[in-house]
Amino acid sequence: MTSIPPVDLRSDTLTLPTPAMRRAMIDAPLGDDVIDVDPTIDRLQAIMAERTGKEAAIFVPSGTMANQIALRVHCRPGDEFVCDDGCHILHYEQGAYAQLSGLAARPIIWPDSIPTVESLEHVVRPPSEHVVRTRLLALENTHNKGGGRVVPIEAIERCAAAAHQLGLATHLDGARLFNAVVASGIPLERWCAPFDTVSLCFSKGLGAPVGSVLVGSREMIAQARRHRKLFGGAMRQVGLLGAAALHALEHHVERLAEDHAHAARLADAIRQIPGLTLEPERVDTNIVIFRIDSPLGSSRQFVERLAFEGVRAMPFSHEHVRLVTYLGIDAPAIDRAIEGLRRAATI
Ligand SMILES: Cc1ncc(COP(=O)(O)O)c(C=O)c1O
Repeated sequence: MTSIPPVDLRSDTLTLPTPAMRRAMIDAPLGDDVIDVDPTIDRLQAIMAERTGKEAAIFVPSGTMANQIALRVHCRPGDEFVCDDGCHILHYEQGAYAQLSGLAARPIIWPDSIPTVESLEHVVRPPSEHVVRTRLLALENTHNKGGGRVVPIEAIERCAAAAHQLGLATHLDGARLFNAVVASGIPLERWCAPFDTVSLCFSKGLGAPVGSVLVGSREMIAQARRHRKLFGGAMRQVGLLGAAALHALEHHVERLAEDHAHAARLADAIRQIPGLTLEPERVDTNIVIFRIDSPLGSSRQFVERLAFEGVRAMPFSHEHVRLVTYLGIDAPAIDRAIEGLRRAATI
């Protein structure tokens, strides 16, 4: 008897390279990107610079490295950056801003992850030898802890403009910015325009095995290249990975709409299951977060029951669980996940 593999909704980083992507990787023209240049990665960087409306792009192994390099480009030790209270840079990168770059973080609680100009004006510190220098506004879109929320473009444009007026640089953690593009219909270039630098990932919903880029001005990306070497992210025949990213750009962007539709179905089902509450209630893209009411136990206990029902999920806090849809999770898998959720919530 063959057992059915579980529906694994822990993260969109679980995507596996498709056979066509693997073939593209094998066929990629390669070179040494540290000694001189790898032609495939060079092409990817040129395409990403053009698509994001920036002067230059640099390929790095991970979203974490792209963010940390950006912090290094914009700030010096003893500086602080302003960010959302729930952002990835603050919670899930080991405080690397402090460990690697000697920075302080100034988190702000923004309801629904929507930044406001007023809050920004209040936190920027005046010049004084007693305090750190506020140097950067770092935003995230889509917002992971915010349940894949597409942060409204108008709020972003207003805040980034205010930040620049206050003398701050701006960075966007756009690990899932392509999800925002597809969900909103707003072009990538407009989402990137308010920011000095933007990081984007190929290894999440886009389905590449590895890789992110940082985009920005020629000068910032030249600095980023130095920091990438320092952080150990300079790679040799990296076109193997670049080919996967190029394939993803060509074939896997528009299809993110399927992931969003699957997440919407999960959300609709969760709304009907007693004991589970969507939090946030709104599901814009491919992430669904819900709270477990106390009679159903903790998130870990619920996730264990879900696993027994053939569905893998991520405990996201003591009482919250996260589900993420992605390439490789099809409509029948969503049906099974919904059935598993119903069973796990029946005690
Ligand atoms: C919003 C966000 N930024 C950055 C990252 C870091 O990406 P990586 O795992 O490639 O370091 C993640 C990872 O999930 C993320 O969700």
